[in-house]
Amino acid sequence: MQIEVIKCHNYGLESSDTLGHCLATSCIAAFLLLCARASTSTTPKKMVFEYPDVRRDESVVDDYHGTKIIDPYRWLEDPDSNETKEFIEAENKITRPYLDACPVKQDINQRLTELWNYPKYSCPFRRGNRYFFFKNTGLQNQNVLYVQDSLEGEPRVFLDPNTLSEDGTIALSGSRFTEDGNTFAYGLSASGSDWITIHLKDVATGEDYPEVLEKVKFASMSWTKDNKGLFYSRYPDQTGKTDGSETEVNRDQKLCYHRLNTPQSDDVIVVEFPEEPLWRIGAEVTDCGKYLIVSPVKDCRDNLLFYADLSKQPEINGKLHLTQIVHKFEADYEYVTNEGSVCIFRTNKNSPNYRLVKIDLHNPAEENWQTLIPEHPSDVLDWASAVDNDKLVIHYVRDVKSVLQLHNMKSGELLQTFELDVGSVVGFSGKKEQSEIFYHFMSFLSPGVIYHVDFKKQPYKPTVFREVKVKGFDASQYEAKQIFYSSKDGTKVPMFIVSKKGLSRDGSNPALIYGYGGFNINIQPSFSVTRLVFMQHFNGVVAIPNIRGGGEYGERWHNAGRLLNKQNVFDDFQAAAEYLIAEHYTRASLVTIQGGSNGGLLVAACINQRPDLYGAAIVQVGVLDMLRFQKFTIGHAWVSDYGSSDNKTQFDYLLKYSPLHNIHKPENGTEYPATLILTADHDDRVVPLHSLKFIAALQHAARGSAQRRPLLARIDNKAGHGGGKPTAKIIDEHTDILCFMSQSLGLKFIK
Ligand SMILES: *[C@@H]1O[C@H](CO)[C@@H](O)[C@H](O)[C@H]1NC(C)=O
Ligand SMILES: *[C@@H]1O[C@H](CO)[C@@H](O)[C@H](O)[C@H]1NC(C)=O
Ligand SMILES: *[C@@H]1O[C@H](CO)[C@@H](O)[C@H](O)[C@H]1NC(C)=O
Repeated sequence: MQIEVIKCHNYGLESSDTLGHCLATSCIAAFLLLCARASTSTTPKKMVFEYPDVRRDESVVDDYHGTKIIDPYRWLEDPDSNETKEFIEAENKITRPYLDACPVKQDINQRLTELWNYPKYSCPFRRGNRYFFFKNTGLQNQNVLYVQDSLEGEPRVFLDPNTLSEDGTIALSGSRFTEDGNTFAYGLSASGSDWITIHLKDVATGEDYPEVLEKVKFASMSWTKDNKGLFYSRYPDQTGKTDGSETEVNRDQKLCYHRLNTPQSDDVIVVEFPEEPLWRIGAEVTDCGKYLIVSPVKDCRDNLLFYADLSKQPEINGKLHLTQIVHKFEADYEYVTNEGSVCIFRTNKNSPNYRLVKIDLHNPAEENWQTLIPEHPSDVLDWASAVDNDKLVIHYVRDVKSVLQLHNMKSGELLQTFELDVGSVVGFSGKKEQSEIFYHFMSFLSPGVIYHVDFKKQPYKPTVFREVKVKGFDASQYEAKQIFYSSKDGTKVPMFIVSKKGLSRDGSNPALIYGYGGFNINIQPSFSVTRLVFMQHFNGVVAIPNIRGGGEYGERWHNAGRLLNKQNVFDDFQAAAEYLIAEHYTRASLVTIQGGSNGGLLVAACINQRPDLYGAAIVQVGVLDMLRFQKFTIGHAWVSDYGSSDNKTQFDYLLKYSPLHNIHKPENGTEYPATLILTADHDDRVVPLHSLKFIAALQHAARGSAQRRPLLARIDNKAGHGGGKPTAKIIDEHTDILCFMSQSLGLKFIK
């Protein structure tokens, strides 16, 4: 198993880097932090903006369970119409000059570029008799995959995605080696789309096989252990565009089997559920090669389990005979490893903090399952990986921080805890048949240390394999701490606060509050260059509250922030701002809130509900039309977190917080914070229409009102939801965000 971004929710809203091409959290564009600094010497730019004159069509009315809702910007849902294109142009045309007028734009851009320019590495991993690792020399648009014959051997470039496009917009997205390490299957995505094409490379010669597998999205890839072919999931051909700028619903995914060195047209469908068009079909060949574990999922939690005995159908030339193990969507099940027919799964069935269970495929009734590692009362069992034949490495999340342990696979007994500083394990490599592991540690003030453990030498002692240094960054000048504050209903919520040491606590510093709050995702400590620029050059305070809806405290924490509990997520975030203001870290007019994707929903809901609490808001690739999100691309998968307007009770609830439907006229005292909405033309995870409709409605409400702070949209091209974004585009985007904050809050750049 190899993990680079720990929670890789391929099908959810998060970025989908599963195989180490995202080396550092600081390269996931949509989820980063920025900011600027207070100064009494500059005054915020307040001016009346001439927003584009945009057609409202009030004749578009939907009837939801008897409630009539006008949707005046429905026409913006068509990404290809001239009118939509003109709208985008008109928006960029007022945004660009505002951002470019930032007097410290050069300073910001230069500092971001300088600090970004340090080498980044993934954990090395062995496949066959070679080692591989990803490296970015600093400013390369895409990480490069290197090969070496031994850990000490000279690394050679194996695959350099930078050579595939001029501007770095072709990215590696998912990859898998065969068991013998001789063939490499890799996905490429263009312009940030979730669509990938799978290519196959002969490792020894570096030559690609002739075939390319198309119409692939949200795909698991798993080779048969005879190294001859690959299971992968694909969608049927669809009419019209499939480049990620379309909005069509993704449905009817099939699991296929591809034989190496044959055309895709010869592939066979091995698993399908034609009566369940919205299911996505995950599949994993077991470590022993005998079974295929098939795990259909319909939204962003809970899966079913089936298996096929591959030894009984060795030809794989049609539908596989499946035996069902789990019959209801009520919990997560993740294959870890197996010994014979006994498989170990990670599950939250009756264990909201997760446990490991043994399920005998030949005797799979639930009453026969055996708990191998019981649920911990407070720590969340985040992942487990088989190593060194008979051991398990287990990653726990304890109060948002990583804990890494070694357990006996047979008995479950704890063998050892690997000491870690306060922070996160962001990468791991190790396999059952290998007697070594690597893990990648990172924190707010540590850009990365890769540890190596050799199980052939006792005692098992981690050694530092590689440590990354950032020029111009002295960690001793900063401090990171975790506090717990009370939310509206008294719930204790953890929050990290990071800043320079010794900042005055007089409310004069700008603060950036970043949140996500959904989909069982943990926001753990990570290193970010952009945050560093904010702290170093604006005396900024970075705050990351681990609000409900996330997975920081297991399924309970997630449940407390989804469906009819979603308001808790916003309350927690607002309480974080109130805490920072009450404790004099900052004041409301210097607070910026930022979030992407589900976090964009969070930020947009918060500016509607408490405009008085913030000076600026950054809404990245947000889900903003809560009545219609399920109608586009993979939006239907989020119903497990949001519910759906098709259900009357859920509709009533969604209508109360849907950002698009709760925009108010910024009358006296309810002026909106300066707001920047970011999206891009190839975002097929959260389609851009959310952002377009929202900014149109927001500017309409502001026209002729007391609103003076800017309400702007930045709509990028050749970019998507964030995964695979080239470094050059990330730096441009972060420069713009910092400029927006500096301009609108009147912050000064301290050299
Ligand atoms: C859209 O704009 C293009 C270029 O200006 C023009 O050729 C085309 O006729 C327009 N299409 C429609 C439907 O107006
Ligand atoms: C509608 O939503 C409510 C509240 O989430 C839920 O309890 C109910 O089961 C849903 N109804 C259907 C038919 O899904
Ligand atoms: C806000 O309200 C105050 C007091 O009612 C009034 O003096 C002021 O003019 C109002 N400002 C705006 C912009 O409406």
